[in-house]
Parts: sequence; C-alpha cells; structure tokens
Amino acid sequence: MRKKIIAGNWKMNYCVNKAEEFVSQIKDTINTDEVDVVICPNFVALDRISDLIYGTNIKLGAQNVYFEDKGAYTGETSVNMLAAVGVSYCIVGHSERRQYFNETDEIVNKKAKKLLEKDIAPIVCVGETLEERESEKMYEVVEKQVRNSLDGIDKDLIMNKVVIAYEPIWAIGTGKTATAEQANEMCKYIREVIAKMYDEETSQKVRIQYGGSVKPSNASEILNMSDIDGALVGGASLTNDFVAIVNY
Ligand code: 13P
Repeated sequence: MRKKIIAGNWKMNYCVNKAEEFVSQIKDTINTDEVDVVICPNFVALDRISDLIYGTNIKLGAQNVYFEDKGAYTGETSVNMLAAVGVSYCIVGHSERRQYFNETDEIVNKKAKKLLEKDIAPIVCVGETLEERESEKMYEVVEKQVRNSLDGIDKDLIMNKVVIAYEPIWAIGTGKTATAEQANEMCKYIREVIAKMYDEETSQKVRIQYGGSVKPSNASEILNMSDIDGALVGGASLTNDFVAIVNY
C-alpha cells in the first residue's frame, strides 16, 4: 500500500515572516501521519520553517538544488546545505525550471542522484505541453523524461525514496485540471515505464503524484484514483485550501 504524499510548492511566494505566519496558522491542521505532508517554501524561509515544524510529522522540501558539492557556483545551493536545515524532499525538474532556466533531463538526473546521496528524496517532475498532448505525443515525451531523469538510479531508491510528479504543463496555474481519468492514465503509464526500466515490484511501489490546479473541489477525486499517490499543489498550497486538500 503506497502512502499518499501531498506537497505544497510555494514557488516564489511568501517572504520569511509571511511564511512563518502561514505555517503557524495551519500546522496543527496538517499535522497528520495518514499522508506524508511536505511544505516547499523559498530557500530563504527553509531554516525558519524547519524550526517551526520541528517535532511534527510535516516534512520540509526545497524547490531546487545544485548538483555540485561546493565551490564557485554563485547563486547555487548544495545538497549538504539543504540537509543542514532539515530538508527531506526536493523538487527537481519542475516545468518552470525546465522552461525558464533551461533545466534538461540530464541536469535533473544529476540533481536527483546527488540528493539521494544525502538521503533527500527527489520529487522528479515530468509532463507534456498542450501542443504535445494535442499532437498525441504525450506518452512519448513523458516516457523520455522519466527514463532520462531516473537513469542509473537504484531500484531500491526508486521504490523507497524517489517521488515522481506528473504535471501536465497546460494544467499548471491555469485552473485547467486534467480530468482525474487523464491524470490517472498518465500515472499508470509512468508506472508501466518503471516496470520496463526496473520490474513489476518497483513499479507497484514507486509513488507518483499529480500536479496542476489541484484544489479542494477536485482533490478527493484525483487522490482516490488507482495510480495517483498524491498531489503537488501550487497556488492552493498558499491558502487554507491546502488544509482541505491534506484532509481530502
Ligand atoms: P498549480 O497548483 O498552481 O496549478 O501549480 C501546480 C504546480 O506547478 C505544482 O508544482
């Protein structure tokens, strides 16, 4: 039985004080062990939020990382730096990073591997554009992203640590949700890709989230689908809607 994982990707929102205020306000209502709850604030708020959620079941996530250990990489943050402030998950390959910061599958793969060395779970994002869906290339595109992003990662880590997030780009921040069936179909397909890359057991254990306009009104339908193991929530994770989604 795969435990659901619901993560809030705050993107570039909330300064430290606002982040603290919001988490203080909601933390008791999202402190559950029925699902894994992850909050991914901006880098500058990680340390303070880490203190705030200490002793709860809520986990801290980062939104990005660099794959080198240290050195002259102005503006970058290493895996050790994340580990030192209590980060246990890190989003990699979000479509916004692929689109605006030229992040490729190869970079995503290096980041995921580096995170795993430090026992931080990568949340590896994949997903197609509207054009790719309309031209029915979505399976091909997503399969390639999954294969390349996870290349060379051990089966045990895929089963027990890595999280895959299927986020169709056309559904992010647009209010346009994939139907629960469309989302489930792709998550199921990703599971088949994992079965081809590894084996059936691995494909049954890996956790696959859906992300893209998840809100209280569609959370329970999405989260009750057979192959969807959680949600990566953007906009709705910045408000009390996140409480409703966690308690779907
Ligand atoms: P929205 O929930 O705002 O559509 O964002 C989804 C997302 O990109 C989460 O990573």
